[in-house]
Amino acid sequence: MDSILVKGGGALNGQIPIAGAKNACLTLMPATLLSDEPLTLTNAPRLSDIKTMTQLLASLGAEVTSLQDGKVLAMSTHGDINTRAEYDIVRKMRASNLVLGPLLAREGHAEVSLPGGCAIGARPMDIHTDGLTKMGAEIDLRDGYLHAKADGGKLKGAVIDFPFASVGATENIMMAATLAKGTTVINNAAREPEIVDLATCLRAMGAQIDGDGTPTITIQGVDKLHGATHRVVTDRIELGTYMLAPAICGGEVELLGGKIDLLGAFCEKLDAAGINVEETDKGLKVARKNGRIRAVDVTTEPFPGFPTDLQAQMMALLCTAEGTSVLEEKIFENRFMHAPELMRMGADIDVQGGTATVTGVEKLKGAPVMATDLRASVSLILAGLAAEGETRVARVYHLDRGYEHVVRKLSGVGANIERIAGD
Ligand code: UD1
Repeated sequence: MDSILVKGGGALNGQIPIAGAKNACLTLMPATLLSDEPLTLTNAPRLSDIKTMTQLLASLGAEVTSLQDGKVLAMSTHGDINTRAEYDIVRKMRASNLVLGPLLAREGHAEVSLPGGCAIGARPMDIHTDGLTKMGAEIDLRDGYLHAKADGGKLKGAVIDFPFASVGATENIMMAATLAKGTTVINNAAREPEIVDLATCLRAMGAQIDGDGTPTITIQGVDKLHGATHRVVTDRIELGTYMLAPAICGGEVELLGGKIDLLGAFCEKLDAAGINVEETDKGLKVARKNGRIRAVDVTTEPFPGFPTDLQAQMMALLCTAEGTSVLEEKIFENRFMHAPELMRMGADIDVQGGTATVTGVEKLKGAPVMATDLRASVSLILAGLAAEGETRVARVYHLDRGYEHVVRKLSGVGANIERIAGD
């Protein structure tokens, strides 16, 4: 297995281009199932998760063609399709569950494997299934698969109150509701930029959606959606990750395509930690203010709160801050697996349940470490960039799920980083 070797030390200077959002692309791709006409996505990221979704859609009968080195995905789903999403693919990636709403809306039934647990927690699907049940679906769990059937072969609009602003459930219900009979209202909907991006694409396909980006989304069902071309929104998590690189190492880096609006509370926390963020005509320029990073407390929350997907990377920054920071993880129950790895590099971290207390040390020291999930792996790279000596991050296949060309992007701003091919 490949690993990444980082030699810490120098400041970073230059520009990093930010790709289209993985999480937006993974929900936009299943939208092809809602129409017989072609859906084309531009600004797609080149990632293994996108390949997994391509495989899943192909197994259902969609045609997905990757053009321009993967930056454009031309999709088409005409004629008869298969409605069974197999465990073999779904278990690789939880976002596979995003085919449930579109399949049910198009065919009136669907059989989708439950994804199972993942490293960061149990991640049930009750909010998705309760919402679809309100829309007239009957859903049973048999042989590890959700068997869903719309009463009368067509979903009906409903008022759905989410107990929690789940991103995936908002996306599934929103897609299902575009072709339902009547009006669906989602209360306590997720407000993430990826939701707004999906709504924008669905509107371009002829859907009638209002209120995306607010806690109440209203979808008026239509008979048919048509083809469209849509540009995937910038990846705010890749953006935030690379904003932390000059914050940790010093120097000044411009993130091309970055926008403050995508970042919510993350920017406020950077400011409190002593990091300058300036909007330019090409993106965002980030540099550390004078002196050492200051400790800040962070609680992860749905957007516009601090994103759970940037918690591990923020922890890497706070390991060398002046003072003690408290990080509270409120979205996933088991998302501090990077902490023991950071401690192997000399960090002072105490984890109690969903709370991590980080007391800053002057300097981290390089060490061999192991990536446990996607965001944990990049946090270890960030920590390695600022550490004394060499850090080798093993199991980088996690990284390939969510970061394209990480070595090229970081070495382009002066980082000493290389990928070592494994056996
Ligand atoms: C999406 C993102 C993921 C991010 C997460 C939270 C994608 C492909 N993935 O995941 O990167 O970390 O949002 O911002 O977009 N929950 C339930 N029942 C449900 C659904 C969710 O209890 O039916 C719980 C989950 O277990 C979790 C929390 O709600 O604890 C958040 O989940 P959700 O917002 O649904 O995240 P995902 O859509 O899976």
